[in-house]
Amino acid sequence: MKNLNGYYGQWGGAFIPEVLHETFRQLKDFYSAARGDPAFWQEYADLMATYSCRPTPLTAADNLSRHFGGARIFIKREDLNHTGAHKANNVMGQGLLVKRMGKGRVIAETGAGQHGVATATMAAKFGFKCTIYMGEEDVMRQRPNVFWMEKLGAEVVPVTTGSKTLKDAINAAFRDWVTNMDNTHYCLGTACGPHPFPEMVAWFQSIIGLEAREQIERQFGKPPARVYACVGGGSNAMGVFQGFLDLPGVELVGVEAGGEGLETGRHAARLASRDGSPGVAQGYKTMFLQDDDGQMRTTHSVAAGLDYVGVSPILTDLWEQGRVRFASATDSEVMAALELTMTREGIIPALESSHAFVQAFKEAGDMSPDEAVIINMSGRGDKDIFTIANAFKDPSWQQFIIDKGKEYEAER
Ligand SMILES: Cc1ncc(COP(=O)(O)O)c(C=O)c1O
Repeated sequence: MKNLNGYYGQWGGAFIPEVLHETFRQLKDFYSAARGDPAFWQEYADLMATYSCRPTPLTAADNLSRHFGGARIFIKREDLNHTGAHKANNVMGQGLLVKRMGKGRVIAETGAGQHGVATATMAAKFGFKCTIYMGEEDVMRQRPNVFWMEKLGAEVVPVTTGSKTLKDAINAAFRDWVTNMDNTHYCLGTACGPHPFPEMVAWFQSIIGLEAREQIERQFGKPPARVYACVGGGSNAMGVFQGFLDLPGVELVGVEAGGEGLETGRHAARLASRDGSPGVAQGYKTMFLQDDDGQMRTTHSVAAGLDYVGVSPILTDLWEQGRVRFASATDSEVMAALELTMTREGIIPALESSHAFVQAFKEAGDMSPDEAVIINMSGRGDKDIFTIANAFKDPSWQQFIIDKGKEYEAER
């Protein structure tokens, strides 16, 4: 993970409007000072231990291991983090930095809503004002998270431009920042965007990999053969991969959204498909899904958190170097993996995380019981109840929704 002025090989950089230069300089200074200060990491680790249930467990999924009859499957349980996903790691870290910077307002973009809920939670705890930008389509499919963000005290702004998903929410958040930078910090939710965000977010998320490395060595006696993580912007993947980057024998596998299938063009696989191409957008250079004129394409995934045109420049570099292998999982494969994990292990992964399960399940049977694989379960699936219930066409749930609607109408 070599980083020269925010570049990872040819990827990354900081393409920002001049008006934000001073804000970025301040952020870089505070981040560098925090990174060089062991007391900051200790404060962060203590906060995560007492507020967010860290270290999260590494669960041996023995029923699934038996089912596939190959590698021993372990699940890193980021679902047990406070607010139900890995997003809290980055957000609480940035919250501590905002306190050091003396700012009083945070803004964020969100796709699946997990980052929005985590940011609203952090803002409530630290006493910051909070505004969350969310594509209108995501507001509809992740309604429970919108409800909680608002109840936690945040203002949620639906973004109605473009494809009304994550990339449009990021654009809206940058527009806000440009006008309010004096008192506002943009708490970017993934390892993308202009430097120092990819590096800084990856640093906070590295707590996942640090724990996982120690846990697998204790519970299995040696490092895993493979580590799987889903990849939206790339923060949970970077988090767990960093625990194993120095071990060339550990294969790192990133799983992107295959949507309706790579051949349909309706997906969000920037690296696993042939559809990605180099570009500069949203302040950084990476492989984007764009048309021949450089216009961002509309992406598709059943998982809002993976439905994004760009990908972490750090991961693009690791992919180019051959250090991280990329695969994709389709929406229907995701539903099957989710069902299997629920019924065999009593664990409900988020739709995003289920992408990593798909690829691990495809490969585990061909491996030996002497080998372990870790699946990074980035979050829990409760937020996806509407999408999952629709996919399973659950009649009693549908009736429940109809009845609730009637009850609500009668009360109005
Ligand atoms: C549960 C969960 N997993 C994964 C992601 C994808 O983000 P990233 O690639 O930054 O981990 C999201 C994004 O919202 C998410 O909510």
